[in-house]
Amino acid sequence: MSIPGNILDGIERLEPLPMTVQKLILMLDDEEVDLAEVAQIIEFDGAITSNVLRLANSAAFGGVSYIRETRNAVVRLGTATLLDILLIGHLRSMRVAAPHYNLSEDDLWLHGAAASLAAKATVKEARRTRISQVATVASLIHDIGKLIMVRYLKADVPSLYDICQEQNITLVEAERQVLDCDHAEVGGAMARKWCFPESIVQGIELHHQAPSGDGLPILDTVRVANEVAKLVASGMEVDGAHLHPDIADSCRRLSIDGEGFRRIRTTTAVWLADLKARYGVENGSPAPGRVR
Ligand SMILES: [Fe+2]
Ligand SMILES: [Fe+2]
Repeated sequence: MSIPGNILDGIERLEPLPMTVQKLILMLDDEEVDLAEVAQIIEFDGAITSNVLRLANSAAFGGVSYIRETRNAVVRLGTATLLDILLIGHLRSMRVAAPHYNLSEDDLWLHGAAASLAAKATVKEARRTRISQVATVASLIHDIGKLIMVRYLKADVPSLYDICQEQNITLVEAERQVLDCDHAEVGGAMARKWCFPESIVQGIELHHQAPSGDGLPILDTVRVANEVAKLVASGMEVDGAHLHPDIADSCRRLSIDGEGFRRIRTTTAVWLADLKARYGVENGSPAPGRVR
């Protein structure tokens, strides 16, 4: 399915990413990246520098020693995580309420942040499968297409959640009914416009399609991370043995068993509580009826 012209225009008119983010994206694929150079880029922005230092010393990343130098923080975190931090800041600045998705202002970026943390836990858990660190970036922005979709969902259009309930269809099917495209393909087009590596674009574009054949590790990670983020937000525990067949397939390809999935969920919940505290976000009660 192709994206309608008016929505393509909206993607074309998107505001560019901050320069620091653009520079880091270019460095993502570079194995020989000079971390001193990355630290220099970060140090141009005081707010980002303090965030980077705080994260490097947080529960998710903290090591034996306390870090005070940006360069050491960059070494500890890695380029992909730095990009995550910058993108979270950018996504927060773009936040909008998405009533058609039953999402409040903070829900969308928090869901991405939770998925990014879940991806990090997945990379750790799937020791037998080599997963690129960029899977955390792909997970962070996997639902970014919704930012464009909400601009085209008119007030008189019924909630996508209601359409899903009434017709017993999935969210992407409801989106296609209303807008002739879905948030995954729109998100893929946005990532392309922002010059993200193709592996990230695919992780976004295909995250609601069952991978064919052997799948792609980044795509499988995004799918598992999305599921974990939803479970953590709803407060639900799911026995790894009773996962949706598509998610179970992704776990199998990543060599993650039921126990491993449970660990990823637990770790993500702890890291997310830490992140919410860092950003001063309330730990609200799980809202029913969110569709993702
Ligand atoms: Fe999605
Ligand atoms: Fe999602």
